[in-house]
Amino acid sequence: MTRRVYLDHNASTPVHPEVVAEMLPYFNEVFGNPSSVHGFGRAAREGVDTARERIARFLGVVPEEIVFTSGGTESDNLGVKGLALARGRGHIITSQIEHHAVLRTAQALQAQGFDVTYLPVDQYGMVDPDHVKRAIRPDTIAITIMHANSEVGTVQPVAAIGALAREHGLVFHVDAVQTFGKIPIDVHALGIDVMSFSSHKIYGPKGVAGLYIGRGTKMVAVQHGGEHERRRRAGTENVPGIVGFGKAVEVRTREMPAEAERARALRDRLWEGIRLRVPEVRLNGHPTERLPGTDNIVFRHVESESIVLGLDLKGVAVSAGSACTSGNVEPSYVLVAMGVPIEWAMGAVRFSLGRSTTADDIDYVIECVEPIVRKLRQALPVGAA
Ligand SMILES: Cc1ncc(COP(=O)(O)O)c(C=O)c1O
Repeated sequence: MTRRVYLDHNASTPVHPEVVAEMLPYFNEVFGNPSSVHGFGRAAREGVDTARERIARFLGVVPEEIVFTSGGTESDNLGVKGLALARGRGHIITSQIEHHAVLRTAQALQAQGFDVTYLPVDQYGMVDPDHVKRAIRPDTIAITIMHANSEVGTVQPVAAIGALAREHGLVFHVDAVQTFGKIPIDVHALGIDVMSFSSHKIYGPKGVAGLYIGRGTKMVAVQHGGEHERRRRAGTENVPGIVGFGKAVEVRTREMPAEAERARALRDRLWEGIRLRVPEVRLNGHPTERLPGTDNIVFRHVESESIVLGLDLKGVAVSAGSACTSGNVEPSYVLVAMGVPIEWAMGAVRFSLGRSTTADDIDYVIECVEPIVRKLRQALPVGAA
């Protein structure tokens, strides 16, 4: 049987067995609607409350500041639209490398009359707080910058940006979908007012996420209906999902410190192994200020899709840093914004490690990569390499 190695944890993670066990009764035993006043409803409400408390404790905030949503994308939509629409008009500062959930929300707001500045990033994918400062105008209402980029893993200087937001009385939204549960986040120290975070990136179920809304932050709802989530997000709660999310966070509280160290060491082992064996490779993202388990590596003169498919045949799951849109392979907009030359950017592969990744897995992947890239390069037309 082919060996299977999953190195795509930034895309999604398997649900932790303890999380599955905690969720199961909520499908057919504790199935009431948490808004119902009877015992069935109250039991479901208790499950939701416990999860909210666990998550609030993990973040060092109060439970009332947590709103449950259906995913990272919804949290970003609610976060950014909610704070913009509450102010009616104005200017928003963001970056060119945000996730589409923020970028396209910003574009939708532009269509409604808001003005948006998309800040550039440096070669490591880092936003310069000085650029943020210079972009602030009298009509600026908010800043939205991601904590870490999902493709290259660069962790942004959010504390410095948060301080600027405070100084200028601006709301600061942070998309922490890739950092929540992976590195410590102190929302108060970082000056964060609103923050998106998700369950399925940290061994919780899909279809559930959270939005932290700091007390006193002016926001409006985007989804209308009942009085759920203190009128900030209407709709019957995904009780099993929320319970699972709460458990996943509890497990992360226990595992995160050691896991982050382990992932960092394995990440460096992978890059070193590939760098020593394969010529013409480059590591994207910040060399140190980077997510513990993320290596985005470019292989010059090779198309990333071919490497992804070659590795898939070896049972290794990774993701391509380029996207195939209408038959044409396009380099990643994140790498383009970082100034990575096209002939490099086309060969970007993201390896994202997780709690089940072993040193043995990493060595196997290094061994697989070298011949795949060598053969792809040999197949190139003469003079291309
Ligand atoms: C930084 C970031 N924001 C938002 C999202 C959207 O999350 P989802 O696709 O789970 O809705 C992702 C997903 O990868 C992400 O990495």
